[in-house]
Amino acid sequence: MHPTNSIAVITTAVLALSSSVSAANIGRWNKWSRPEEASTSTSWVTVYETQTVTLKASPTQKTVYKNGGQPANNVAAEATTLATQVVAAAETPVAVESNQGASVNVQAVNNAASSSASGGKRGFAYNDANLVNNLVNGGTRGSWAYNWDSVSNGLASGVEFVPMLWGDRADHTNRWANNIEKSLSEGASHILSFNEPDIAAQANLSPEAAAAAHVKYINPYGGRARIGAPAVSNSNLDGQGTRWLKSFMSACDRVGCKIDFCVAHWYSPASDPQSLINHLNEVHSICGNKPVWLTEFAPLGNDQENAAFLKNNLGRLDGELSFLERYSYFMVSVGSLMSSSTSLSSLGQAFFG
Ligand code: BGC
Repeated sequence: MHPTNSIAVITTAVLALSSSVSAANIGRWNKWSRPEEASTSTSWVTVYETQTVTLKASPTQKTVYKNGGQPANNVAAEATTLATQVVAAAETPVAVESNQGASVNVQAVNNAASSSASGGKRGFAYNDANLVNNLVNGGTRGSWAYNWDSVSNGLASGVEFVPMLWGDRADHTNRWANNIEKSLSEGASHILSFNEPDIAAQANLSPEAAAAAHVKYINPYGGRARIGAPAVSNSNLDGQGTRWLKSFMSACDRVGCKIDFCVAHWYSPASDPQSLINHLNEVHSICGNKPVWLTEFAPLGNDQENAAFLKNNLGRLDGELSFLERYSYFMVSVGSLMSSSTSLSSLGQAFFG
């Protein structure tokens, strides 16, 4: 979600006013109000709401957002992608059922397992593939990349692209079969399901609807690639975060989703690294002890605190949590992990080592 400048101003004001806002949902504000995202414009209506919820031990006031919109840059990226896709489809029809694809990708899964072991768990979460390519050309190492979409939009071939079906809307599902076949034929060995269906402004699906859509769109690729469950936030509001995931896994037991690993996001204060570890452990357990990926995360401190958080805690993600297969910081962009289109920021240096 990419707020307008005016929304960003409102966001800042709300943040300033709500000193007691804490934990998971504050992450949404921080994430959406990053300068590079606030500069895009959109016409959707955003409604902010303040809720009082009871957290495990103490009552806490949280500010949450509601938005029925679509990320502005995603719309632009998708329009381009769609145009490219139409041209590509006209030139080279892609087979939807392909035995050759199946055997290629069993090999790809094996390769990915070993390259992941040598290349580490770190990946690139990006919108602009040029930035990732610049980093890779400059020697930055990451074993995989994703862009919340089903086409890589120009990612260099040395990095494993992981396609995602962002949501169940037609502008994503219409392109899915062609895009996924193309990704598989180019060696993709993992597939990500919906992005934050537990959050109204993101994929926004009930656990039951998500399970049905997962069976429809994602299950067909089981066995050809390893399959991720939808990515959930660490919101602890009713019906969100791990509560949503629990219901999704139950719905999946009934309808038979194919899932090889679960996927989580995390945004919380930099002073509380243990909440990240706890969140990942909880996701792991809800997922029936399957592996876990952390595809978005960021501590909510200043630059120095965030860099210190990464220096002090990435070792835990790499070592202590053996079930955690992969993780990517939010995100590869100038202003976050990068200080210019070719250089890492101090945060980026802390993340990529
Ligand atoms: C959105 C994506 C977007 C990404 C980076 C995610 O939360 O769901 O659509 O591309 O943020 O801006």
